[in-house]
Amino acid sequence: MSTQTAPQKRVTIHELRRMKTAGEKIAVVTAYDATSARLVDRGGVDVVLVGDSLGMVVQGHDSTLPVTLDQMVYHCAAVRRGLARAGSRAHLVGDMPFGSYQASPDEAVKHAMRMVAEGGAEAVKLEGGAEYAEVVGRIVRAGIPVMGHIGLTPQSVHKMGGYVVQGRDGERAQQLLRDARALAHAGCYALVLECIPAELARLITGQLDVPTIGIGAGPHCDGQVLVFHDLLGLETEFKPRFVKRFAELGPAVSAAVQAYVGEVKQGTFPAEEHSFHAPQLRLLQVVPPEPETDDDHPGVVGAPV
Ligand code: KIV
Repeated sequence: MSTQTAPQKRVTIHELRRMKTAGEKIAVVTAYDATSARLVDRGGVDVVLVGDSLGMVVQGHDSTLPVTLDQMVYHCAAVRRGLARAGSRAHLVGDMPFGSYQASPDEAVKHAMRMVAEGGAEAVKLEGGAEYAEVVGRIVRAGIPVMGHIGLTPQSVHKMGGYVVQGRDGERAQQLLRDARALAHAGCYALVLECIPAELARLITGQLDVPTIGIGAGPHCDGQVLVFHDLLGLETEFKPRFVKRFAELGPAVSAAVQAYVGEVKQGTFPAEEHSFHAPQLRLLQVVPPEPETDDDHPGVVGAPV
């Protein structure tokens, strides 16, 4: 009898659309390396996002702006390998970092291709509204699915004047609705709605055929996304209102390291079960080194001939 399990059916952009139509919620989590990718896939996520949030939670910057395309490709490829090892079903999306798609549609297409060809992403995500419809169209026509991202767009932190909720007034809300429709029309297969009022997210979700994925956008989106470190409580200093910690791993990690340090200091780790043995080594004689003579250092400089 075979012990192999049947390969899981991979989530595609069409499956995500089907889930919206069927009213099945979509669960998205970020991952930045092979191990976290494997763990979130085992947790049953539908989509893994290699977010440029890695600039903050992995690299320690105070914004996502310094993240480069090379770094995104590198992390995407690591996540891809982790998912491959897990025999995953999750759909893999890679973020286009700041500066990789704003200058021209041609550059955007070339850079999106690197995310797919070298990073192994199945789709790319980019931030911005109707003004990016042309860029989205060009990338989609090149054969690469695009996830849009509107509302609080962290790459525009300076333009927004900080990380603040967007679309609270009627005019801004109207603009976000126009952006959502323009992006869907341009070919986006899904849309992240970040930090907008739940009422607006509900309206946008109801007006689009493509799934909306919310973060700080209330319960009416077709799916939700959280950053890996936030979901697991690895980040202990900072907790925005929209984050729910499903574990408190930050303190658990520190406690585990503290226990390890204690055992190393006391000499109780490693124990017998962590040690290797080679009994025959006891038979080896310790041969004292020969005393050095002047002939060992003849003072010759240069290569032998
Ligand atoms: O970079 C990121 O992780 C994101 C999600 C929070 C949507 O864009």
